[in-house]
Amino acid sequence: MRDLAVKSSFIIFLLFTLSACSAEASFKPNEPCKQLVLYYHDILFNGTDVANATSAAATEPTKLGNFKFGKLVVFDDPMTKDNHLLSPPVARAQGFYFYDMKSTYTAWFAFTLIFNSTKQKGTLNIMGADLMTEETRDFSVTGGTGDFFMARGIATIRTDTFQGASYFRLKMDIKLYECY
Ligand SMILES: *[C@@H]1O[C@H](CO)[C@@H](O)[C@H](O)[C@H]1NC(C)=O
Ligand SMILES: *[C@@H]1O[C@H](CO)[C@@H](O)[C@H](O)[C@H]1NC(C)=O
Ligand SMILES: *[C@@H]1O[C@H](CO)[C@@H](O)[C@H](O)[C@H]1NC(C)=O
Repeated sequence: MRDLAVKSSFIIFLLFTLSACSAEASFKPNEPCKQLVLYYHDILFNGTDVANATSAAATEPTKLGNFKFGKLVVFDDPMTKDNHLLSPPVARAQGFYFYDMKSTYTAWFAFTLIFNSTKQKGTLNIMGADLMTEETRDFSVTGGTGDFFMARGIATIRTDTFQGASYFRLKMDIKLYECY
């Protein structure tokens, strides 16, 4: 009888330890299974540069504050491996951002990176808040297709440069923590 009690308490102890271990494992930040560093180039249409521009304002800003609140920009932007605008693009970023604060410049992004080369085919879907006053911002990689099937991770962005309203470049450090 005593033996049984010892045995069953041992099993209960084991179960507790196992469940504690698995709970801990799911919160442990893993190493990324894939990492990509890419540059995003956005050339905003100024009304005449049709051949060069890669994005355009689809709505006018509202009069709420002085930070373009409500202005929505749709883009089809080249992504390159280095910070040169004229480097051959390895992907395109297609989506939009809009300005969303009345007291400072912030935007919200949602877009898909489309890879269509012999090296990589597939998409990564990315979204998040661009709090422009922060040096780096984190977007969520919410999913993927093709070579990025079911991918999830974080894209850390940094403003690499900007020329007034006409051009800006973001460095995107994309770390995937789920790969299949
Ligand atoms: C638009 O940009 C192009 C090329 O950068 C420039 O030549 C042109 O003068 C600009 N147009 C306006 C209306 O600013
Ligand atoms: C992908 O590339 C192939 C070959 O260059 C082309 O035929 C196809 O239209 C491209 N697809 C997209 C979505 O750009
Ligand atoms: C295209 O836009 C970029 C960024 O504003 C600018 O540096 C470049 O001179 C433009 N090219 C042409 C041909 O207008």
